[in-house]
Amino acid sequence: MLWKDEGRIHLGAEAEVRAGFWLGIPAVKKIRMKRTWRHPDLDHLLTRRRLDAECRSLRRLVGCGIRIPSILQLDRNTFTMVMSKVDGEPLIDVLRAGISDDEIFSEVGRVIRIMHRVGIVHGDLSTNNILWQHGGTPALVDLGLSRVSTEVEQFGIDLHVLEEILSASHPEYDGAMTMVESGYLSLDIDEGPAEDSSGGPLPSAAQVIKRLQDIRTRVRYHG
Ligand SMILES: Nc1ncnc2c1ncn2[C@@H]1O[C@H](COP(=O)(O)OP(=O)(O)O)[C@@H](O)[C@H]1O
Ligand SMILES: [Mg+2]
Repeated sequence: MLWKDEGRIHLGAEAEVRAGFWLGIPAVKKIRMKRTWRHPDLDHLLTRRRLDAECRSLRRLVGCGIRIPSILQLDRNTFTMVMSKVDGEPLIDVLRAGISDDEIFSEVGRVIRIMHRVGIVHGDLSTNNILWQHGGTPALVDLGLSRVSTEVEQFGIDLHVLEEILSASHPEYDGAMTMVESGYLSLDIDEGPAEDSSGGPLPSAAQVIKRLQDIRTRVRYHG
């Protein structure tokens, strides 16, 4: 048996996630479920698109220094993906427990920038999809809504999603987003400007943060 099941760890609207071992390696199995309220053909298409997006982005992120799951097994017919288990607790639980490692938010910003520097927009940067481990670096999971982009707006929106979640769900962490931004900006200072991707030049960290400010203003005035 390739897979040894250890039970469910998450049941969301779209997927069930189970913990276990794959050939003895600590792993998780993510099974995307059918949504019966949607036309089966459309459901099939959208589910497969998410599975493919998740795999494509995880592959593109290999070797860039972010902790992400490795894909161990993929079944496109049953929409099932087995991946390595990444260590850490969902950031939502860490913050709700009141833990305040100084570097959490700046590290999160740094990791998001590493992802953006290879042209990937996560698409769902919630505190459920960032795992934190004390003394380590944040891990990113759940890339089913991710895409490859060179558009500054897309990267700005990625950060804005996180900002909205931080202020709505974790308002006690005053200044969290300022620290995310400083971590985000720090990477370009350390590593230089982002490289060109095949689709054209990627925006710099400063350009993305500037756009984030514009998005914030836009949302404030137009809802
Ligand atoms: N590779 C992984 N390693 C460890 N935990 C994981 C992994 N993938 C998912 N999880 C856990 O399962 C939860 C749900 O997985 P996720 O991919 O976010 O599914 P959903 O699309 O339903 O939100 C995550 O918030 C995380 O806590
Ligand atoms: Mg998720």
